[in-house]
Amino acid sequence: MSAQVTKLFNNIWQQYLTVTPSADKIHQLLGSGRDVINDHVAYRTFNLDKINLDKLASHLLTLGYTECGQYDFAAKKLTAKHFEHSNNTMPKVFISELRVEEFSADVQKIIHKLVAQLPENISDQENFLYSGRSWELSSTDYQTLLTTSEYAAWLAAWGFRANHFTVSINHLDNFDCIVKVNDILKEAGHPLNSNGGEIKGDKTVKLEQSSTLADKAIVEFSDKAMEIPSCFYEFAKRYPQADGELYTGFVAASADKIFESTNAIS
Ligand code: NI
Repeated sequence: MSAQVTKLFNNIWQQYLTVTPSADKIHQLLGSGRDVINDHVAYRTFNLDKINLDKLASHLLTLGYTECGQYDFAAKKLTAKHFEHSNNTMPKVFISELRVEEFSADVQKIIHKLVAQLPENISDQENFLYSGRSWELSSTDYQTLLTTSEYAAWLAAWGFRANHFTVSINHLDNFDCIVKVNDILKEAGHPLNSNGGEIKGDKTVKLEQSSTLADKAIVEFSDKAMEIPSCFYEFAKRYPQADGELYTGFVAASADKIFESTNAIS
C-alpha cells in the first residue's frame, strides 16, 4: 500500500514542479539533498457531483487513508476535510470544495459550463489527481471568476493538481524553527505570503504554518495566453498535544490565510 501511495505522490509532485519551479530549489535548500517529508498536500475542487471532494477523496481511501477532520470557511464559501494515512510519514491530504450554489448566477453559469465539458467518469481515471485542466476556459471567464473568488479562478485555470505541498519542519535535519526556515527562504529570494503575518498559528493551537507566494506560469486560455499565479510551497511545524502525540489537524483561521498565497500581487 505504501509503495502505491509513494508512486501517486511522486506523480503529483512531478506535475506540481512543472508550474512551481521554486519548489525544487526550496526542496534542495531545506533538505540539503536528502528526502523531505511532506506534512500535507492540498487540493481544490468544486462541489459538483462529477468532481466533488468525495470524488477526489475516493482515490485516497482506496490507498488506506481515512477522513480525520472537517472545516468550514464561510467567507470563502468552502468546505474542507483532511485525510491521514496509517503510515505517518505519508502526507496528510487537505481537500477543499467551493460551494458553487452560494455564488451569483453568472459565476455558477461559468463553473457549470466548465464541468459540463468533462466526461461523466473523469474521477475514475487513475491519474485524476494529476490530470490538470480538461476544460476550455476563456480569459474573460477567468477574469470574471477572479473578481468574485480567487479560489474559483485558480481552479478553473489549473484544474486537478496539488495546489501546494508542505514541508514538515518537524522532520527536517537542519532546521527546527519556522522563523529560521522563513529567514533562509527570504535570504534565498523566495517571497513569503505575509497576509495575516508570515507565521500563521502558534504553539497554543499546536500548528505553525508559513508559505511562499505562488510562482507564476503561462496558461493557455481559449483566446490567449496569460501569466498567472500557479502553485506555492508551505512549511508546517506541529506541536505535541497533552497526550504527547503531535497534533495532526488543521487550524481554520490559519488555512484561511494560506489560501491567499495564490492571490495575484500587483
Ligand atoms: Ni496547506
